Amino acid sequence: MAILETILVAFWLMLPAYVPNNAAVLAGGGRPIDGGAEWGGKRVLGDGKTWRGTAAGILAGLALAGLLTMIGDDVGSALGLTLPGFPPLAALGLAGGAMLGDILASFLKRRTGRNRGAMFPGVDQLDFVVVSLPLVALLATEWFFEWFTLEVLVVIVVLTPILHVLTNVIAYKLGLKNEPW
Ligand code: CTP
Ligand code: MG
Repeated sequence: MAILETILVAFWLMLPAYVPNNAAVLAGGGRPIDGGAEWGGKRVLGDGKTWRGTAAGILAGLALAGLLTMIGDDVGSALGLTLPGFPPLAALGLAGGAMLGDILASFLKRRTGRNRGAMFPGVDQLDFVVVSLPLVALLATEWFFEWFTLEVLVVIVVLTPILHVLTNVIAYKLGLKNEPW
């Protein structure tokens, strides 16, 4: 694969994992998942992880995966490449794994004494990749190894932090997020 093609495929594959975080920011609020519970004098997860945000994130990721599956052939031929559709379990792994990774990151942040909204470089940018990709490999193994080649994985690890920083700065400037990370 040419590098531009690899980047496009990697971005396409990860869209259902990228969008849940942004949807959660837009929809977040209401009852926190941990219900206010603490562990070791710190919140288990914190007020930044809510049921509504999580549900909206997963639904947005699933809906996007469905949409991409419908338009994949047309977009692919317009761009002159082959783009994958998303089997339901792959979509679930990407969207659910992204939200789960974000929640696990908050759990780690609280355990390491970081308050809600605190920066955790590296973890903030890659938490959802680290959980969603193994989950997809588990739930949709054949599809995963067909599309997530080594070069696609390398592009994802480089591209994701860049996109994450960019989208969060934009969300901050738009007043949607409290911190630019
Ligand atoms: N959000 C949510 N539910 C989630 C993830 C995010 O409701 N599962 C919403 C919350 O309103 C949260 C905002 O999106 O404040 C920003 O998300 P994030 O940066 O992940 O949370 P933080 O508030 O920074 O909290 P943490 O330090 O735990 O990451
Ligand atoms: Mg944050």
